[in-house]
Amino acid sequence: MLPVVDKPLVQYAVEEAYAAGIRQMIFVTGRHKRAIEDHFDFTFELEDALEKAHRVELLAMVRAVKPDDMECVFVRQAKALGLGHAVLCARHLVGDHPFAVLLPDDLMIGEPPVLVQMAEQFEELQASIVAVQEVPADQTRRYGIVAGEAVGDRLIDVTRIVEKPAPEVAPSRLGVAGRYVLTSRVFDEIASQQRGVGGEIQLTDGIAALLKHEKVYAYRYSGKRYDCGSKEGFLQANVELALASPELGAGFRAYLRSLEF
Ligand code: G1P
Repeated sequence: MLPVVDKPLVQYAVEEAYAAGIRQMIFVTGRHKRAIEDHFDFTFELEDALEKAHRVELLAMVRAVKPDDMECVFVRQAKALGLGHAVLCARHLVGDHPFAVLLPDDLMIGEPPVLVQMAEQFEELQASIVAVQEVPADQTRRYGIVAGEAVGDRLIDVTRIVEKPAPEVAPSRLGVAGRYVLTSRVFDEIASQQRGVGGEIQLTDGIAALLKHEKVYAYRYSGKRYDCGSKEGFLQANVELALASPELGAGFRAYLRSLEF
């Protein structure tokens, strides 16, 4: 629920998924996360008050949080057993369909939005796709790292994927960003994983197992990722998005220029 400029991170992720054609949003949350449910709920009192006060713009903003054709489902992950386990918590809702996983602390800004680019790739490939970017050699321990053969400019036919390897053993410097389009077979593979790095059930390990049965592609997205799970990334996102905002950009730029540093 951490806001970047004027809306919570989770809202950016939902808007990206919506742009990619997704209409059922499944939130896997934990204890003390009820604010997320409330955020996407219908706020009758607020809408009623804005309507009566003829605050048309604000009303449109509130309504845009959850378009009428979007469904929100909330699932609790009772124990923080890892990303793979969190994905597994949504299995009964996803069923046999391909699905996307978005990690909202990775704020992705792209034109078209990154998940839209990936959905287009999925249409053609009909195979799982993970978003990747080049990461500095000393940061491989923070990411799932993929290796494979380039097939075109942006696509890599993945042959290996490893969770958070040390730089000496990392198979490449292509790090997974928090966007995935996956086939439902991955659920079986995650379910048969032992605990991996950090004692957690890792999505990366499930994808590595999936590779033995299906093709998996890595996609070098066009756009920028802000790691809002880090203080630095969170600050950068706020500054850059404020500068790019039609409403705030000019004033904020002037303010930054006025600072002596
Ligand atoms: C998770 C994944 C990792 C991926 C990263 C992207 O790690 O396990 O493979 O590269 O997200 O942000 P986390 O950041 O949750 O430790």
